[in-house]
Amino acid sequence: MSAPELDTLRSELLEAIARAPDLAKLEDLRVGALGKKGSVSALMLKLSELPPEARKDYGQAVNALKASVGEALEAKRAELAKEATAEKLASERADVTLPVREGPLAQGRIHPVSQVTDEITEIFADMGFSIAEGPDIETDFNNFTALNIPPEHPARQDHDTFYFEPGPDGTRAVLRTHTSPVQVRTMLAEKPPLRIIAPGRVYRCDSDQTHTPMFHQVEGLVIDEETHLGHLKWVLEEFCKAFFEVKQVKMRFRASHFPFTEPSMEVDIGYAKVGDGIRIGEGEEWLEILGCGMVHPNVLANVGLDPARYQGFAFGLGIDRLAMLKYGMPDLRAFFAGDLGWLKHYGFPPLAIPTLAAGLSS
Ligand code: DAH
Repeated sequence: MSAPELDTLRSELLEAIARAPDLAKLEDLRVGALGKKGSVSALMLKLSELPPEARKDYGQAVNALKASVGEALEAKRAELAKEATAEKLASERADVTLPVREGPLAQGRIHPVSQVTDEITEIFADMGFSIAEGPDIETDFNNFTALNIPPEHPARQDHDTFYFEPGPDGTRAVLRTHTSPVQVRTMLAEKPPLRIIAPGRVYRCDSDQTHTPMFHQVEGLVIDEETHLGHLKWVLEEFCKAFFEVKQVKMRFRASHFPFTEPSMEVDIGYAKVGDGIRIGEGEEWLEILGCGMVHPNVLANVGLDPARYQGFAFGLGIDRLAMLKYGMPDLRAFFAGDLGWLKHYGFPPLAIPTLAAGLSS
């Protein structure tokens, strides 16, 4: 090939390279020119056919062609790569000032009953109570008889009990009507000193604005050889202050009657009506939140503890009612209606885990 022919080939190649629309087309051109069977490589093979005196000039000319085509390819490749990056960036443009979109996990909410149960557990755990549990389906003995409520006792009527069909031995299992049977289970399973709370579901055949057939209680039990009424009062006062997150709470211990405690009391807390809401711990109104007392000697004897040696206190409080009070939810039935709108409004973010250190509800 003569020098003018090489020049023509060069300008053809350079022009094609300059016009290459994308990296793939450019690669085709590279293979077509510089690849093993490419047009420029083929020229090199011709070297051996030339007379020796012509080889040097020809070789230099083809090498120069190869170099300039190589340079043009590289320059074009860089240019196309830059364009491709710019295009990609433009198509993936993100507005970083937009708020983060919530994923499905972040939209979930913790039910107020679960949250308040965790708050209550946190407070009592901090006072050294451990958590005990019992089943929702209880024996008649644990739910009633062991708690000093024998068959025919009028207190059984107050409980609106859901009974199961009688078993082979004639006794009927019940849906537990309170968490108090966990007292019995704990005292049968462990030796004093005991200091437990037992949160859980309880059932009564009752339904209106402030009653649902299933609701939640926390039972408390302390048994040793010296715990007295003063300890009970202190524990409940400390609990109420911590739970309602106030420095002082007005409390009233009212004489009452439960078969499983002697003496027995109901506890009211003071509150004031402020506009549509209420303020806890002050004011002239009273609201009952729990029952409590010193564990009855008959209960101790029923679980094999010597009442002359052991004593202690018990209490039972309604979780749902405490949740309604603290977070201003007016209708108990809405708690269990499975209404997503309600849960979004009153529920808690999954990571708002209540701790005393961080503030229970902050
Ligand atoms: N079990 C009672 C109820 O459901 C509440 C209660 C009262 C529990 C006094 C106790 C207690 O442990 O001492 O109505």
